[in-house]
Amino acid sequence: MICVFGSINIDLVCRVAEIARPGETVLSPGYTQYSGGKGANQAVAAARAGAIVEMVGAVGADGLGDAAKANLGQNGVGISGVSTVDLPTGCAFIVVSDDGENAITVASGANRAVSNAFSHKPSILVCQMELAAGVTLRAMQIARRSGARTLLNFAPVPAGMDRSVLVELLEVTDYLAVNELEMSALCEALSVVRSGETLAEHARCYVIVTRGDEGISIYHPDPEAKSLALSAPSVHVVDTTGAGDTFVGVLASGLGEGTSLNEAARRAMFSATLACRSFGAQSAMPSSAELQAYCDP
Ligand code: RIB
Repeated sequence: MICVFGSINIDLVCRVAEIARPGETVLSPGYTQYSGGKGANQAVAAARAGAIVEMVGAVGADGLGDAAKANLGQNGVGISGVSTVDLPTGCAFIVVSDDGENAITVASGANRAVSNAFSHKPSILVCQMELAAGVTLRAMQIARRSGARTLLNFAPVPAGMDRSVLVELLEVTDYLAVNELEMSALCEALSVVRSGETLAEHARCYVIVTRGDEGISIYHPDPEAKSLALSAPSVHVVDTTGAGDTFVGVLASGLGEGTSLNEAARRAMFSATLACRSFGAQSAMPSSAELQAYCDP
């Protein structure tokens, strides 16, 4: 069983010609409400790829929280670990430009009240950085002690993160999934050379770097082992929101099934690419059958 310990949001998405610069106002014809949150997106991606998934997180006692929980349930994600707290449900304000770029502000709300209480004994624990770093660290330490493997998606990069918490997080990480900006931020915080090889060797975990339409690279903690680069297929990109979450969820699903890291990452890359073809995070993720047909035609 995969446990995703993380954020649950409702996304309010506006389409714009160009994303507003600081101090500027731009108009959008309207907005659409989607289910989101990095944690919830990763849980849905893993469930859609065929895994048994439990979500641990929090929502508010409001309509958005009810909608977020209902959506997880409809996607086959267990919600017994989702608590209802006295803060509004997390909400992400997202603008997507005509060329598929996005800018996101998350009002964390109930995500700030997630505690470490989780009763499930997962085979893999998946975490991101949308909850308090200390709470995420505790969850990963508990999971590791119970024999689980841990997958950390270092997104979003926390502002002003305590270096000692970062070091402790990496000590209990088996697989680290980052994009190039997140990799740079981590290398800088750790005062190491900016490269996947160095990060994997320093953090003593597998590092998977997602490089947008260029594909992914996989680095091993053992410096003698060879890294691997895989090219992404080409698609017409409409919206990249949630592509990284799709990658992480499908990767977790593959690892949970016992698939090799390289093959699990290859499928995850295909799934993330397909998820860029339409709007929304979860709404754009491919089904298991669609992914299968694309990966193994
Ligand atoms: O990664 C995309 C997600 O980031 C969105 O769904 C939004 O909720 C934010 O958490």
